[in-house]
Amino acid sequence: MASTHGAEVLVASNRGPVSYQVGEDGALHARRGGGGLVSGLSAIGPDANAVWVCAALGDGDREAVRRAGGAPLPAEDTGGQHVRMLDIDADVHHDAYNGIANSVLWFVHHMLYQTPLEPVFDAGFRRQWASYEAYNRAFAEALAEEAAEGAAVLIQDYHLVLAPRMLRQLRPDLRIGHFSHTPWAPPDYFRLLPDDIAAELLNGILGADRAAFLTQRWADAFTDCCHAVLGADVAAGTRIGVHGLGADADFLRERAHRGDVDEWVTALREEIGEGRRSIVRVDRTELSKNIVRGLLAFRQLLEDRPEWREKVVHVAFAYPSRQDLAVYREYTAEVQRVADEINAHFGTAGWTPVVLHVRDDFARSLAAYRLADVALVNPIRDGMNLVAKEVPVLSEEGCALVLSREAGAYEELGADAIVVNPYDIVGTADALHRALSMPASERTERTKHLAAAATALPPAQWFLDQLHALD
Ligand code: G6P
Repeated sequence: MASTHGAEVLVASNRGPVSYQVGEDGALHARRGGGGLVSGLSAIGPDANAVWVCAALGDGDREAVRRAGGAPLPAEDTGGQHVRMLDIDADVHHDAYNGIANSVLWFVHHMLYQTPLEPVFDAGFRRQWASYEAYNRAFAEALAEEAAEGAAVLIQDYHLVLAPRMLRQLRPDLRIGHFSHTPWAPPDYFRLLPDDIAAELLNGILGADRAAFLTQRWADAFTDCCHAVLGADVAAGTRIGVHGLGADADFLRERAHRGDVDEWVTALREEIGEGRRSIVRVDRTELSKNIVRGLLAFRQLLEDRPEWREKVVHVAFAYPSRQDLAVYREYTAEVQRVADEINAHFGTAGWTPVVLHVRDDFARSLAAYRLADVALVNPIRDGMNLVAKEVPVLSEEGCALVLSREAGAYEELGADAIVVNPYDIVGTADALHRALSMPASERTERTKHLAAAATALPPAQWFLDQLHALD
């Protein structure tokens, strides 16, 4: 297939670096996203011949694609990057994204299936699977059109697992990498999936020259699945890599000391109250983040150790996520209900034990990182978890990290964190007590080590390493 733009470097992901909303005036307002990929891609420099292929997500994006009439999106909106947004049929996208990616693959890799959400692999699932294939094919075709001879293509995540093989068939000349930002399920759990689907998913990634993961644990699980489902040695043609994305220290330090963050620090100090300690968490409201058990552990702490009552506040930021899915809406309500219940039970005239904020605000999150005494990061499973890495970088007076052993970040940060089994509410309550009781000097020392480990591989280097590994 002839390439139309001849890009040398391509990135493909469901969510792109920019999103659009139609304002009340009818004008389009662009919003730049953050995260490792955005800063990683910008590291290759403004002159690089790069294209980012992503899906249009919502009416604003679709309108932007329509107004651009097939031309690249305006460069001022995208930070100068060439972004190609795919206007995939809304039903196809819904089935691929909400149905297969977020309700099946996300649940498999995070091992989240439990009553009331059980795996259902019926005829409806098969229809959604056809959409997932169509969605992946739309990306593969767009990438094939955009790529120059021999270009490097970095395909991201569980949304786009079939695209590497599809692209390989269209353009054998390309160098293709796939990167998983999630954990990978061990074979016994992965094999919940129907056999043909499990094989197609693995073969999809094996269509890439290189499959990369955030930790050795997830990489090993992938090769174990290849072995169990497809037979030994089948992965021989695909190299496996591990790139443990780190925090972007320069960006964080600069951003966290602007006026809006300073203002939030003052406001949060007031909300917490003079002389009180804080246990901070910042997450999307996501089942895998285990927010409800975190609240129950805090409740257990107040129950078991009354000396902490009135002395500590749990600052929980739980930002809305994937609200198209009923199970996420219910989880959001559950988080609110448990927080309210703790406040009703323990709260006093001058003390609100849980301060829960659900409106997404990046500046306020950074303010909380700066002043946290304890950070609670207790996911059931997590590909990496950047909050665990960002807090030590911004902490002003040292912050004790309570960290789930099931987070990818555990491999790098476990030695200086207080490590918990995320299902163990009493154990997590004990860990919170130990964290709150940690002497200041030990906290400072550990925070220094955590920050060094957390920034070992900044996003720019993380991205360039993957690119060079395809050479
Ligand atoms: C996870 C995935 C990312 C995704 C993010 C937000 O971290 O690995 O690919 O972008 O969740 O999820 P969303 O469904 O809102 O894109």
